[in-house]
Amino acid sequence: MSGEGVYALSRTHRQELIELQEAALGGEAWTPGMVDEEFDRPGGVLLGVGEPLQGFACAWIVLDELHLLLIAVEATSRRRGLARALHTALLARARGRASAGWLEVRADNAAARCFYGSLGWEEVGARPRYYTDGCDAVVMRMAPLYQPAAKR
Ligand SMILES: CC(C)(COP(=O)(O)OP(=O)(O)OC[C@H]1O[C@@H](n2cnc3c(N)ncnc32)[C@H](O)[C@@H]1OP(=O)(O)O)[C@@H](O)C(=O)NCCC(=O)NCCS
Repeated sequence: MSGEGVYALSRTHRQELIELQEAALGGEAWTPGMVDEEFDRPGGVLLGVGEPLQGFACAWIVLDELHLLLIAVEATSRRRGLARALHTALLARARGRASAGWLEVRADNAAARCFYGSLGWEEVGARPRYYTDGCDAVVMRMAPLYQPAAKR
């Protein structure tokens, strides 16, 4: 799936975004205040897909790096390429601004590790006990940022 159908989120999507990320992330969900901060962040990229909202992506472009904070898709809409479409659109928006990408993912999140791995992200390190429940974070990197998506 290409990045077609992906759009920039605005405050009109605030409540949908809060509910979607709470459902998708449970105890790791952002508070409403943290969600609000992402709408106006300089260098922030906040994208959505689906009407009503089925998935979203949040990233920061800091200097020449893309920091991918989160991609999440509603549970009943998974394995339909929506997260891949969000990722494609995210990289398109970072093109010409960022040359490398970084992200952190829970070590026990097998689905997300497979997802990012399938798109060319490499596991390059770990942050022990990074999450509040003691779970490690896996650090992933994509450099250069625009490898062909398919690693399958
Ligand atoms: C990870 C997540 C975003 C994937 O969303 P998705 O829309 O289902 O992903 P896609 O359909 O675009 O999948 C693209 C590819 O990623 C891989 N993939 C996705 N989910 C996978 C899973 N559960 N197991 C193994 N591989 C998976 C596959 O290679 C897949 O291609 P395929 O379906 O053709 O085999 C989704 O599971 C999710 O929202 N999880 C909860 C939130 C989360 O943990 N986000 C990441 C934290 S940073």
